[in-house]
Amino acid sequence: MKNIGLLGCGHISETYFRSRQYFNNINITACADLNLEAAKKCADEYNIIVKNVDDLLADKTIDVILNLTNPTAHYKTIKNTLLAGKHSYCEKPLSIQFDQGKELIELAKSKNLYLGNAPDTFLGGGGQLTKQIIDSGEVGDIKLGNFTFAFPGVQSWHPNPEPWFVEGGGPILDMGPYYYTMLVNFLGPAKSIKAIASKVSEFRKIGEGPRKGLEFKVEIPTSYYIVIEFENKAVIQGFLSFDVINHQSNFIDLYGTKGSIIGPDPNMFGGPIKVSLAEGGAWKEYSTEEMKLGKTNIFNKSGRSNEAPRNANYRGVGLSDMLYCIDNNLEHRCNGELVLHVLDMLDTTIKSAEQSKTLQLRTTCNKTKLFNERDINLITN
Ligand SMILES: NC(=O)c1ccc[n+]([C@@H]2O[C@H](COP(=O)([O-])OP(=O)(O)OC[C@H]3O[C@@H](n4cnc5c(N)ncnc54)[C@H](O)[C@@H]3O)[C@@H](O)[C@H]2O)c1
Repeated sequence: MKNIGLLGCGHISETYFRSRQYFNNINITACADLNLEAAKKCADEYNIIVKNVDDLLADKTIDVILNLTNPTAHYKTIKNTLLAGKHSYCEKPLSIQFDQGKELIELAKSKNLYLGNAPDTFLGGGGQLTKQIIDSGEVGDIKLGNFTFAFPGVQSWHPNPEPWFVEGGGPILDMGPYYYTMLVNFLGPAKSIKAIASKVSEFRKIGEGPRKGLEFKVEIPTSYYIVIEFENKAVIQGFLSFDVINHQSNFIDLYGTKGSIIGPDPNMFGGPIKVSLAEGGAWKEYSTEEMKLGKTNIFNKSGRSNEAPRNANYRGVGLSDMLYCIDNNLEHRCNGELVLHVLDMLDTTIKSAEQSKTLQLRTTCNKTKLFNERDINLITN
């Protein structure tokens, strides 16, 4: 079994330690963080070895670095991981700039190392069931659609919200990876993007923690309207926003030539998925509860708008799949070609809004393969 070194011991690390319950090859043996206290706490809690960052990367017993550092640190830390001769699996986004992401993919290739990246939510029951229904032809060819992620932003509950409102933050880099990866999973690669951005307020106020009440400056757009044309000619419109108090839009609606399908929350792994085949007709519901990576396993209400109180969360499947593929010399599902295309879409969205014009994507990728229960059984407990 491969040994994993964890780099970045913050909020999301707990989710990856939990993933050991579900997957049979996640063996985290050591951790490191720029903040030594955070690394020590993590090591104590999970009974693993604490190291400083350089020692973790130099450790010959470690094969793969699980990178859970902040987005602005991804480029440098992934590069150092690859230069140290280790495989890399990182949280989203791959990097905050397209050129950096491209360099990382090329470096991994040149060193014959695996580079994998979140999100892996498209591998969940909701993403896979929707893909199966679309591929079955039940709703015909998908020609149009809508997607929405909108909430008021993290400043009301996060004690340090500033990174979401400066370069490297914003709704595109934060939530775009989930939506874009899910859409590519359904429709294949994108061709062009047109976006319009808005910064609704110049300042925000911190709502929690020792700095409660302090105002800080918003340096980037916080809402985007987006139109994506896919290579298969589908045209999908989206809205990603940190400026909405409340709403009732679906996460993803896709409109086909024979019917409509309401897809999953791209940030999560479950369903249900709904299909209607007649104007004003009933919505048939497809459950994901019988699917290994779609069954509800979270029962506590987070209080976040746009996040269901009960849901399915199997984050870590992308890492587990990559580990299996390393051992069996296969291509992993959250692979460089896919994540670079998604980063291209994110970067192109931001640039399109800045330049007020439609921009063509620079990359493409293969259609994702269905993740069937037989393959899932190979890596699950
Ligand atoms: N928190 C969530 O709910 C969530 C969900 C999904 C994905 N993510 C992604 O996971 C990643 C981490 O998010 P988080 O919420 O855990 O952040 P966090 O700020 O809680 O933790 C990040 C940790 O990385 C450390 N770090 C930063 N730069 C470093 C470097 N160069 N070397 C070593 N350590 C470094 C920080 O000290 C910190 O302890 C991000 O990419 C984010 O997009 C977070």
